[in-house]
Amino acid sequence: MGFTLNQISPAGAAEIIGFDCSNPAPDDFAALRQAFRDHPILCIRDQALTPKAQASFARQWGSLESQDRSAYCHPDDNDVLILSNERRPDGSQVGIVDAGDFWHSDSSHMTDPCRITMLYSVKNPLQGGDTEFINTNQVFAALPDALKRQIEGRNAVHHVSKTLNPRVTISAEREAAVDYYKRREKETKPVVQPMVRTHPETGVPTLYISPRFTIAIEDMDDAQAQPLLDELFRFMFSNPAWRYTHKWKDGDFVFWDNACLNHMAGGGYHYPDTRRMHRTTVAGERPFYRAA
Ligand SMILES: [Fe+2]
Repeated sequence: MGFTLNQISPAGAAEIIGFDCSNPAPDDFAALRQAFRDHPILCIRDQALTPKAQASFARQWGSLESQDRSAYCHPDDNDVLILSNERRPDGSQVGIVDAGDFWHSDSSHMTDPCRITMLYSVKNPLQGGDTEFINTNQVFAALPDALKRQIEGRNAVHHVSKTLNPRVTISAEREAAVDYYKRREKETKPVVQPMVRTHPETGVPTLYISPRFTIAIEDMDDAQAQPLLDELFRFMFSNPAWRYTHKWKDGDFVFWDNACLNHMAGGGYHYPDTRRMHRTTVAGERPFYRAA
């Protein structure tokens, strides 16, 4: 193996040193795939990635999702989405601001959610801008049996619109966001997902709900479902050992497995202190639950 791997968190994060994503050797790429099965958060250090090179690397992991915010796609490659609080001279936004500001697994509001999210750090702010992760395999493994029995084999309801979800708020820094979410509320159907998801490769069960997208439980009255969701979310955040905070360095290229993690953008930076990330997302399969 031509690169070095260092575990950086017991919550499943490792850093990779000495790997060039622009030109990976086939043997190294196979070793990287195995590292990703063992560590669902990988940070490849010291990369210099053009949007085309990032998209080309990402395509080696599966087909890429088309981005639904075409205004913020990178002009050099439409599969790369710009996340940024930068502004052009006319005041317009260069990228999506405050993306992912509540705990979630990417696109769980879609029938076939994103499997791998890849973020390349182009510019870090002077302060803030961390990305936080929770290993939901570890959360589920520690869940009391009585709670496991209540949710195994059940489905939760996920929806993209923040206007339907009292657990989240809409950032004031995001242009036209209220109109966007009101439109999505009307246009988008909710999706049900297994509350306990079996990992498609490892078979490990995970707690597959999030404060951002999970708004109800299928076939359960809200009077019972909302307190149960509250209890599960309290438990999810009850142990710092399941959590990893990534403090970005210039040139970091981080990718993670949405089938066993929740994550959140930590925020804490403000224009004119700017942050810019380039995101690519690898499509996933329909989540399922298989009894152990
Ligand atoms: Fe996200």
